[in-house]
Amino acid sequence: MDATLHLCWVFKHIPFLRTLVDTCPPSIAMALMPKTKGYFDQAAQLGGQIDEILDNPMVMQAAEYDTMYHFFITKQGDSKEGLPKISEDKAKVKKWLLHEGLNLRFAGSETVGNACTIAAFFVLRDPMVKYKLEKELKDAWPDVDEPLGYEALERLPYLVSS
Ligand code: HEM
Repeated sequence: MDATLHLCWVFKHIPFLRTLVDTCPPSIAMALMPKTKGYFDQAAQLGGQIDEILDNPMVMQAAEYDTMYHFFITKQGDSKEGLPKISEDKAKVKKWLLHEGLNLRFAGSETVGNACTIAAFFVLRDPMVKYKLEKELKDAWPDVDEPLGYEALERLPYLVSS
């Protein structure tokens, strides 16, 4: 994804390349522009998720949180939102969801990664902040081999406020 991100600027200023990458088979696009691999990997993973949901929307009920799929699928056919109906044009819905998903993934990964890197730098520079954060995390998460869900992390006041 890192290698692919800067292509956003290439696509913005040479839109023809964006259309080319979107329309030609991934193997050809990757041969012409190897840095598009991150884009195609993400698209394939998201595409599989979308296929699963469009084939059986009931799988969304197992999600811990509402996701973009819940929003778009419950509002399908809503003319105010401009959303197509799955029953009328499944391929269009899939493309729509794929583009929304890719947009969120790319917008939400580099930004968050940078913010976390900078936050970690400042936490490590301040012994008091480091101590408080470390203590809160160790109390809440004594065994790091056992996963701790996002919901539990979100309830840690010092972590969330810092
Ligand atoms: C620390 C984390 C983040 C920072 C610093 C950040 C920063 C920004 C900035 C500055 C813009 C405005 C860009 C512009 O108009 O030129 C923006 C827009 C946007 N961000 Fe973030 N962002 C962060 C996290 C996220 C996350 C987690 C997501 C999605 C999961 C996200 C999705 C978006 C989207 C979709 C837009 C475009 C909104 C629009 O114009 O309609 N961002 N972000």
